[in-house]
Amino acid sequence: MDEASEFSNLFLEPMGQRTVLLVDDDRIVAEYLVKLLEGAGYKTITCPDGESAFERFEEGGIDLVITDLMMPGISGLDLIRKIRLIDKEVNIVVITGFGNMEIFIDTVRAGAGDFIVKPIEKEQFLKAVDRALEKKSLSESLIARTRQLLNSEKMATVGVLSTGIAHEINNPTTFIRTNLQLMNEYIKRLRPRLDKLDDRKNVDVTRNIILKEFPTMISEALKGTERIEKIVSGIKHYAYMGEEPLDDSVDLREVIAQAVNLVRSKLRRHITIKESYLNLKEIKGQFSKLEQVFVNLLINAADAVEEKIKRNRASGDGDMAGEIDVSATIFEGDETAEGRTPDYLILTFYDNGEGIERDKINRVFDPFFTTKPIGKGTGLGLYLCYEIIKQHGGDITVQSSRGEGTAFIIRLPVEGAARSQ
Ligand SMILES: Nc1ncnc2c1ncn2[C@@H]1O[C@H](COP(=O)(O)OP(=O)(O)OP(=O)(O)O)[C@@H](O)[C@H]1O
Ligand SMILES: [Mg+2]
Repeated sequence: MDEASEFSNLFLEPMGQRTVLLVDDDRIVAEYLVKLLEGAGYKTITCPDGESAFERFEEGGIDLVITDLMMPGISGLDLIRKIRLIDKEVNIVVITGFGNMEIFIDTVRAGAGDFIVKPIEKEQFLKAVDRALEKKSLSESLIARTRQLLNSEKMATVGVLSTGIAHEINNPTTFIRTNLQLMNEYIKRLRPRLDKLDDRKNVDVTRNIILKEFPTMISEALKGTERIEKIVSGIKHYAYMGEEPLDDSVDLREVIAQAVNLVRSKLRRHITIKESYLNLKEIKGQFSKLEQVFVNLLINAADAVEEKIKRNRASGDGDMAGEIDVSATIFEGDETAEGRTPDYLILTFYDNGEGIERDKINRVFDPFFTTKPIGKGTGLGLYLCYEIIKQHGGDITVQSSRGEGTAFIIRLPVEGAARSQ
């Protein structure tokens, strides 16, 4: 290298400029990411596949690797494994679609430090790059990621529920419209009678319509609007992404009612939900997070019941009555030598669905464990339930008998996480 180019290289690569190796076989995505990275002051090197990326990596000088997972030749996962064999330190960020999340857990095991979910948003992407380069600890970035995952899983559930919700909203809309149309029709018929109110008969008919028929129609229509309002506020509340404090006073009946409301559209006529409460009072917690837990448990229960009904039908047995029982009881703490132990709540969600096979029961809380068909379950539901309950200072366990049913048991400190420790 002559002096001039050495100088120009120094000039182009001032101290501190970081080099990002970008591995993606999609040229358009790669070009877009290069633009973002260079716009933010990073130097980039792009490779269209794992082989060439590994060769380039071996040459050295790479501060961060960003790789897609699905590529021709060696996969992103193999690339990470190969890189980790020769470099334990370099930061690796994985780009993944929500659909291939199962692979994500393998990539973390293989040594990826962070991930970016497609579709890629500029701000999120650059933040992830910054974070990776700051060498924040793996655990720190995973905590932030889990939070993001909590929200994406929540949005996925909203997606799953939305067809049913649309149907739910359609029903009251139909009877609001029918009542209004009828009122319109009545008014048309009343008009000639109103012109001849000196006829006693006309007065009686008019009075009857205005004072009896109309109020019934109006109240029917109002009931319809209330129903829609409830559904909409349920969705809004569920989809709320902000961080509420962990020690809000929460009325558990209300949380359960909202969760039941959201999943009702998913429940067929042959599944009934029973609720029973004892000694219930407000507890400290986060409304929308607890609601997320209950929605997950109710959907799982409904799925298990549906599955059993399908199996029964296939073997020629008649329809069974599906049942989901939700019960909540508050127990007082015990007097001990060290003082009184905190009051706690026991909440159970029982269903008479197909149950869980013995060899699978230990895995249901694992992230990405699912027995549901691709596209239906992500296997994150119970993992997130577990995380949320843990954040609340409680625990969640499961008991199940194959073919008989399943119960999830949640224990929560009444006074919230902070005071239970
Ligand atoms: N009430 C239940 N009865 C029977 N099996 C259950 C029940 N709840 C959970 N499971 C089993 O545990 C697995 C994991 O549940 P989890 O809620 O974590 O994921 P999922 O329901 O498969 O997907 P999703 O991420 O959409 O919730 C399910 O696939 C199912 O096999
Ligand atoms: Mg689930």
